[in-house]
This record gives sequence, structure tokens and C-alpha cells, in this order.
Amino acid sequence: MITEDSVREVIDSARIEDVVGDFVNLRRRGNNYTGLCPFHNEKTPSFNVNPARNIYKCFGCGVGGDPVKFLMELEQLSFPDAIKWIAGKYNIQLEEKEVSQEVRQELQERESLLITNDFARSYFADQLLHTEEGKSIGLSYFKQRGFRKDTIETFGLGYASTQRDGLYKAATAAGHKEEQLEKLGLVRNRRDFFFDRVIFTIHNVAGKPIAFAGRILKQNVKAPKYVNSPETEIYHKSDVLYGMYQARQTVRKLDLVYMVEGYTDVISLYQNGIKNVVATSGTSLTSGQARLVKRFTENVTLLYDGDKAGIKAALRGVDVLLTNDLNVRVVVLPGGHDPDSYLQEVGTTSFETYLQGTARDFLFFKADLLLEEAGDDVSKRTEAIRDVSSTLALVNDPLKRAGYLQQFSARLGLDETLLVNLVNKAIGDRRKAQRKEQEREARRERRTGGGNTSDGAHDDDWAGLREPGWAGDSDTAPEAPPAARQDSGAPATEAPSLSAGHSFQERYLVELLVRHGHQWYDEEAGVTIAAYLTSNVADLLQSFDAPAYRDMVVAVTERVRSGQTPAPSWYASQPDLALRKLAVDAAVSPYTYSPNWKEMYGLHLTQKLPENNHRLAAETFLYIFRMEKIERKARENATRIAELEREGKLDQLRTHLKVQMKLQQLRADLARELGTVVLHN
Ligand code: GTP
Ligand code: MN
Repeated sequence: MITEDSVREVIDSARIEDVVGDFVNLRRRGNNYTGLCPFHNEKTPSFNVNPARNIYKCFGCGVGGDPVKFLMELEQLSFPDAIKWIAGKYNIQLEEKEVSQEVRQELQERESLLITNDFARSYFADQLLHTEEGKSIGLSYFKQRGFRKDTIETFGLGYASTQRDGLYKAATAAGHKEEQLEKLGLVRNRRDFFFDRVIFTIHNVAGKPIAFAGRILKQNVKAPKYVNSPETEIYHKSDVLYGMYQARQTVRKLDLVYMVEGYTDVISLYQNGIKNVVATSGTSLTSGQARLVKRFTENVTLLYDGDKAGIKAALRGVDVLLTNDLNVRVVVLPGGHDPDSYLQEVGTTSFETYLQGTARDFLFFKADLLLEEAGDDVSKRTEAIRDVSSTLALVNDPLKRAGYLQQFSARLGLDETLLVNLVNKAIGDRRKAQRKEQEREARRERRTGGGNTSDGAHDDDWAGLREPGWAGDSDTAPEAPPAARQDSGAPATEAPSLSAGHSFQERYLVELLVRHGHQWYDEEAGVTIAAYLTSNVADLLQSFDAPAYRDMVVAVTERVRSGQTPAPSWYASQPDLALRKLAVDAAVSPYTYSPNWKEMYGLHLTQKLPENNHRLAAETFLYIFRMEKIERKARENATRIAELEREGKLDQLRTHLKVQMKLQQLRADLARELGTVVLHN
């Protein structure tokens, strides 16, 4: 492990303009530099580097941070690897702390397994390109599939010959241990596991070969079409997506990943310029894979083969993506085609047009599919609606969920309250199940003496986020603010329910305050963004869902009322540690509109808002925020009305009906004020 002193030395030495300059063409502009943002696609530079504060910041997509964070994000490095990278650049000798014997052994073991696997990769490649058998069988097969030479190299394609101990002999002769070869599943009893197949290398996101797949070429034999390396210390199948290493940068840039089933689909699409593609390798998706995707994008489009009888079965695998807060869309390819064959048939341009034209939101796709199947059969329809409701319950973001609910009730011609109840019930069931699972877990832990949950990883995660220029406690190991954790949606014991779930927006309010509070909303009138926002949410403070965010807003309100402007330094000097961290977090986290806001409110927003649009951002936010609070009131009131009706309490009922009308009026006024369409009722 690298010592803390060393880490500090590296961080102190790293110049943001140097580090960024290694990846981005920078031009000086005044005291700063600008360039094209490496994190999103753009033609005019909105990526800024500020040497004085030693930070970067993209005004187009909102990313920002210090040199370490830049490397971690762009190159997907771990914290220690980013430190090593910088140390290498500046010739800093790193001091390493003694790590325990166990840890060292484990690291060495992993390292040596990777080295042996890399030998196998080069052996298979050599067989493919430089032996007669490889060329005439393997290479000609790949050529016939249209794979170019550079593609073959990029994906580490190879050939395993009919000789049963070729790899075993070559590897041991080169000094690789038999034990390691066995562990990797490459060799068993001195015989090669892969033979008479073409080879696909499976890389981790850092580009290291962690496993292989071999495809049979002979037809009419009873062997499986593919064989794969077993699970090993370096290959956890459920955490891997084939092609992620090659796709990662494009995925990040386009903020979208295509998921296909087959290895060859990935390669074919990639070669034809659709580089943001990964494969699930024919199995159902796991949480680990969803989390992997999430490091690069939240938007997933699944490509299904047109003739899969199993589309319905495939539907089930999608739950895990929704649970992990990914936005899922679906494309069904024309009958009989897989992505590769369809692309070959129509060409890249038509293929892309097809994808863009037919991609549909997964939840609607599923609903339509089930309802179509149910036809007019009432009980089947009910079952379908129940099924869709329980899928909808997996969506953690309450705002997103509310958007779906509105659209579903309109499409299905169902009362929204009914749907809300169904979904709430499903959420309740799920939570009960989770609670039980947690209790089981807890009992297990008590039995085994309990685990130490702090693994240090969080410190590292944070270190990348720590922005220089923020005064204060750089030595305290910071934690993510509790409220922020809540809306990240993770193991959601406290997942906000439909009627109590505005913490996402509340967090956004804090972000706006921290980032833009000190800027002018109206310079002539002397009104800052902070003053504008706080005065317009003052009446809603009671109905905040996340106490931490409310406290922040209250603190800012007081500051504004005392006639002062809360500048970034003020946030950084908050005596309350939780608030201070909240502010730091809000300042460095990318800031985006939920895609659903746009859909729901018909607003003309780009998904990521340019920083200099802070006035528009503040106004739009207020509109949505107030609208959401009204919506919620209206929902609660509607539920109350239904109850009163059942109980026959007519006097109270009348009052509540009046309230409902008033709320509808407010909603219409608010909509008119901002010149947008009124939402459906
Ligand atoms: P081609 O037929 O060469 O185009 O390969 P493909 O990758 O498109 O194969 P296919 O569409 O038949 O299967 C999709 C994916 O399912 C494959 O890429 C594999 O990951 C997986 N798969 C298919 N058959 C097998 C098998 O027999 N064993 C294993 N382990 N996986 C398989
Ligand atoms: Mn195929």
C-alpha cells in the first residue's frame, strides 16, 4: 500500500493542466485553459481547466474535479492506480507500506494468473495468424465473417488447434506453472481445455485477459457451441460484460450502451462503428453487471433477436437493470435476425436508423407485450397489469416512477390511484422481503461473529472527489451524506415511497444553491439565485422529505435574509460536518435533469444543462419542484376523498373536494405562468 505521505506528495505535485493536457488539446484563455470535453461529444470546447484552483470542469456535461478524479473517471483507474500514474509522470518515488502477508500473496497470485492468461492469449493469437492450421481454419472463418485484421487484434481473437497439449507445452516451457494453468481452467491433466475452436478473449475493464471463450467450427458434432473458462480468482462471470473494455470510452461519450447476446454481435457492431456495445453472453443479467454499466452510463438499450421465442423469458432478466436505476430501452430486430446478421444485411446507416427509430422504453414495451397477449381476457389483463405494476415498483427514483404512472394510467385507461395502489403494494411486498433477507443476514453475521464493514474503499472513492479549494477537514475520512445515499437507490430499506419521495429534487435544489447561489438571478434588482430560490421554496420547507437537504436550505435562507450571499467558501466553512459534506458533494457531482422531467413536463431542455444557464435552470427547477408538491397534495387528497366517500362523511368530503379543485387551479396557474402544457389530470 502507498503511504499517506506519498499520496499527499503526489496530490500536491499534480498540476491539473499537465494531467489533462496529456489527454486533451488545451488552449489558453486568460488564466484558464479550454478544450473539447473528453467525457462527452462536443464540437465547441466547453471543457475548462483552472490552474489556480487546480481543477477541471465541463460546462457542457457538468463533470469536474481534481487531477486524480480526472484520471479515475477518464481512464477508469482505481485511486491507487491514479496515484501511481501521476507519480510516474512526475518521477515521484512512492513509498509503500508493508501490507499483510496474506494481502501480498493474494495480489501476487492475481498478478501471476493474469500474466499466464496473457501468455495464453498471445499463444492463441499466434496460432491463428502464424500456423497453417490456424490460418486455413480459424483465420479464414473470421475473414468469412468479415472481421478485419485490426478487429482481430482489438478483441484478442485466436485459434486453439486440434493438438491436445499445445498450450500446455508452450506455457510450461515458458516458465508458467502447471498449477496456475489448471487454476485458470486452461489445462486439465496436462491436456488443453480449449482445442479445435476459435478463441474469444474476455477482458476486464482495464484490458487484462481474464478468461476465454471457444467457439466450435465443425457442424453436426455433439459438443456445445461455446465453452468458457471457469470462475477463477480473476474471473467473476457475474461481474463481467463482454466488450466493456473496448466499448467504455464510447459508452461514456454517447451516454448509452447497447446490450446484445453474442460475442460476434459485439465484434461486428464495433467494427462497423457502433462501438458502444457489450454482450451478456447469453445468460441473464446480474446486479454486478448492472453496476458495471452504471460506472459508464445510465442508459441501456437491449437488442433482442427478432425470432426469439424467449423474449418473454428475457424480460425477466431486465428487472435487475431497473432495480439499479438504469433507464432501459428495447429494440426488437426484424424476424430471423441477430444484430450481426441484420447489420450485415442493411448496412451501418440503416441499422442505426432502425435502432433509433424503434427503441422503446422497456416498461411500455413490456406492458404492450403482456396486454396484447392478454387480449380481451379480463383476468389475464388484470394479471398483466399486476405484473407491470410490480416491475414499475422496481424503479427507485420516485420522480421517474410518477412519470410512468401518469403515462400508464393514460394508456391503459386506468385510474391513476388504482395503479398507485398496486405499485405501492408491490413496493411494500418487496420491502418486506428485503427486511426478511436483512434479518437473515444479521442473524448469520451474529453467528459468525460479525464483520468489519469498513474496507477502506470508501476513503479512496472520496479522495477522487475532494476538490482543492474547499477549506476544512481534508483529513477526516468523509462519508457520503445520508440523504444523498438515500436517493442513490442502493439497498433501499428506506426507498422513498410514492407519496414521500422528493429527495431527488431536494438534492438538486442544494446543487443549484451551491453551484449558482452567488450568481445573479436579476442583477438590476439585486436578486441572487440563492435569494430567488430560497424565497420561492420557503412555504414548502415543511414538506421536504430529506431533513439534511432541508437543513441546508434553511441555513442558506437565513444567510440570505441577513443580507449576505452564500459563496462557495461559505459552504465549505459550515460548522456542521454533514452540511459541509453535502455541499462538497453537490459541487462536484455531475448535475443532470432526470430524463423524465423533460418527458413529463414537455420542457425544452437538453439533458445536461450548460452552466451559464443558471437562471433558466433555477426557474425550471422551481416550476417542477412546486408542481411536484402540488401533485403530491392532490394525490393525497384524492385518496382521502375516496376514503370519505366510502365512510359516507359527506361534510368533510365537500371540503376535500374544494381543496382538490383549488389544487387543480394552482396546477393550471403554475403551468400557464411558465407557458407549458398542462399535465394530464
Ligand atoms: P455465432 O453463431 O458465431 O454468430 O455466435 P453468437 O455469439 O452470435 O452465438 P449465439 O447467437 O448462438 O449465442 C449467443 C451467445 O450465447 C453466445 O455469444 C454465447 O455467449 C452464448 N452461447 C451460445 N451457445 C452457447 C453454448 O453452447 N455454451 C455457452 N456457454 N454459451 C453459449
Ligand atoms: Mn450470431
